[in-house]
Amino acid sequence: MPENNRTKLLIARRVPQAVAARAIDEFQAYVTESDMDSWSVVDFCKTHNVQAVLVGKKSGLQKEHIAALPPTVKIIANASAGVDHMDVAYARKQGIAVTNAPDALTECTADFTMLLILAAGRRAAEYGKIMRSGWGKSFGMTEMLGKRANGKTLGIVGFGRIGRAVARRAQGFGMRVIYTDIVRAAPSLENGATFYPSVREMLPHSEVLTLHVPGGGEPLMTKEEFDSLPKGAVFVNAARGALVDEDALYNALTSGHLFSAGLDVYRNEPNVDPRFASLENVFLTPHMASATVETRDQMGFTALDNVAAVLNGKSALNPA
Ligand code: DGY
Repeated sequence: MPENNRTKLLIARRVPQAVAARAIDEFQAYVTESDMDSWSVVDFCKTHNVQAVLVGKKSGLQKEHIAALPPTVKIIANASAGVDHMDVAYARKQGIAVTNAPDALTECTADFTMLLILAAGRRAAEYGKIMRSGWGKSFGMTEMLGKRANGKTLGIVGFGRIGRAVARRAQGFGMRVIYTDIVRAAPSLENGATFYPSVREMLPHSEVLTLHVPGGGEPLMTKEEFDSLPKGAVFVNAARGALVDEDALYNALTSGHLFSAGLDVYRNEPNVDPRFASLENVFLTPHMASATVETRDQMGFTALDNVAAVLNGKSALNPA
């Protein structure tokens, strides 16, 4: 790639074609063909004096990586909403902006959460398995029954953009929505949902529970929290695997306390605890809640918008 005075941007994770094309058009962009690891990013930045980096999970930058970056780097952009692969506070201290893409994936993630709620409640994994093995036996009126969404109470932990988008969809399915967050939302955002001041107080009322908070720190869902859910509850997680004690979840699923679970995220991705695959009452997907053509383009474009803003001396559009 010819050297010139344009901003040097390293795209350290694979991005959709449209995003790569725009990056090449607007910046002096180096676009990786396979996801780079963190130290390769640092080495590349040093060798090429880049000013901006777009990273993903594998190329996430912790304190030791950020400390080793050259002073040319002004922004680390993420195309994701979650930034648990980054030491945001340390980067900020070093004067490096860190951005994310919080709006781009809201609608897709909320759609996918409904998919998990419906698939887990309506035994989609089991029905799929039956059909793929040839069916061959009609079911009677009392066999293979699921749980309907209509009329159930959905507990939402985290009433941010995604939590609220899930609430809107769930109301369309005739669910009663309750939620908990650090503070109560304004009535216009609440839109009829009922606030509980703590997870602990909300859980016993949550026939279906879905998480929409960032990961990191101690798990939010341990044995105590699963035990607090009503017997026969459906548990859904499209947020982060670190929010869940997976032994406790496994036990709640095998003891019959939970009816089922719909999971898109896991503690040890991409190597999921194999016990989950052996359970009939779990609907599993490989961290794909934002995986549509439209949303992935939008996530990448948001990262590029942030790079352009910061390198033009403006504030980051989406500081993480
Ligand atoms: C996000 O953006 O946080 C999604 O989970 C994809 O990583």
